[in-house]
Amino acid sequence: MIPRKLLGNAQTPDGTGELQLSRRGDDFFISYNGRELMNSRMHGSEDMLAEFACKPIAARPRARVLVGGLGLGYTLAAALAVVRKDAAVVVAELVPAVVRWNRSLCGHLAGHPLDDPRVTVEERDVCVLLKHARSDFDAVMLDVDNSPDSMTQAGNDWLYGTKGLAHICRALRPKGIVTVWSAAPDRSFTQRLRRAGFEIEEKTVSARSCGRGGLHTIWVARRPD
Ligand SMILES: C[S@@+](CC[C@H](N)C(=O)[O-])C[C@H]1O[C@@H](n2cnc3c(N)ncnc32)[C@H](O)[C@@H]1O
Repeated sequence: MIPRKLLGNAQTPDGTGELQLSRRGDDFFISYNGRELMNSRMHGSEDMLAEFACKPIAARPRARVLVGGLGLGYTLAAALAVVRKDAAVVVAELVPAVVRWNRSLCGHLAGHPLDDPRVTVEERDVCVLLKHARSDFDAVMLDVDNSPDSMTQAGNDWLYGTKGLAHICRALRPKGIVTVWSAAPDRSFTQRLRRAGFEIEEKTVSARSCGRGGLHTIWVARRPD
């Protein structure tokens, strides 16, 4: 078996954990404290996260969308494939090293999406960005943990609670959409989304675009007005 090679590591800003980029053969992995967050073999559901968010708003002129969590860049690339040429795509990434890795070591995986002129990178916590946003985005895509429970940093819990969801709603333009990725269903999160006033669909999607791999959950939540 080909051994895994560590290509880079970086502390999270709150100092509680470490992200690692590693490689085995042609496969790349991003892990948090040794637990896998993302790999290059399976990104079907990360692509769908972008499609569910961006397809319904794709015809809007000068659409503005937010990708929370760069990872290996697949969600970003899938969003860019859907939105118009005049769209603006903001990527918020907590760990600056992830942005560096995407510019050097692993950008080829998703076709170097950071080089697209529609992309602006914000090297900061997506929670901070959302707290200050008011009707700024037509779509928001969130894939920063493995489920609606913090993993990368404790502060991410805010996103999935009543306050965070109210801010996300405020950050969206009328009929804007937020999609949230998870490795598994979570009934209480579904209820919180409903209570926050979203119209929601809960989708079960394959980890791989060929339909194989495990099943993941994506919430598609629309601001009604
Ligand atoms: C699972 S990966 C994202 C995978 C991505 N969807 C893709 O297609 O490759 C999670 C990413 O979210 C980032 N992250 C975690 N918490 C964050 C936060 N609060 N704000 C911004 N980025 C965050 C991590 O550093 C990591 O790069």
